[in-house]
Amino acid sequence: MIREATSQDAVAIRRLMESVPGYWQPQWCDDTLAHAIRAADGLAFVWCEDAAIYGFACGHDLGFRAYLSELVVAAHLRRRGIAKQLLEHLESKLILRGRTVFQFIAAVWRDAVPLYESLGWAPPDVVLLRRRLTASRPNSG
Ligand SMILES: CC(C)(COP(=O)(O)OP(=O)(O)OC[C@H]1O[C@@H](n2cnc3c(N)ncnc32)[C@H](O)[C@@H]1OP(=O)(O)O)[C@@H](O)C(=O)NCCC(=O)NCCS
Repeated sequence: MIREATSQDAVAIRRLMESVPGYWQPQWCDDTLAHAIRAADGLAFVWCEDAAIYGFACGHDLGFRAYLSELVVAAHLRRRGIAKQLLEHLESKLILRGRTVFQFIAAVWRDAVPLYESLGWAPPDVVLLRRRLTASRPNSG
């Protein structure tokens, strides 16, 4: 069953993300998740069975375009269409908001590319770059 995520789900979602090797980033904390869910503004969803969380999809609608920021499904429940349903649910919510001619963007792990391709995603005509931000040192002068 899909339901909207709340910041109270942060601990369970973190456990799910930590169960995937390399997925949880050391600089993140519970507050990172709570912030992401709040900022998703109704576009963060969990897959639940018996009140336990086994899937998480988080989108952010920024007006010009929307971003898929996280997608993860517990290893023992994969290949049952859960990620597909989570993505389709998120897309339907974007369409309900009037985002019908719209770019939905994701930075995708290589292993997950077949999932996206099976749902009609394709590489955009742009290059994804990143810059790591670090706090600047106090001015010693
Ligand atoms: C990627 C991930 C979210 C897919 O979740 P899932 O629930 O297993 O995906 P679905 O069952 O909805 O897959 C739907 C379709 O996508 C394709 N697909 C999904 N995973 C695939 C894989 N590992 N290899 C090839 N095709 C795959 C298939 O066409 C599948 O349909 P089928 O099972 O009927 O053949 C899951 O494997 C996961 O959490 N991986 C670790 C974290 C990760 O990579 N997240 C994505 C970050 S961008």
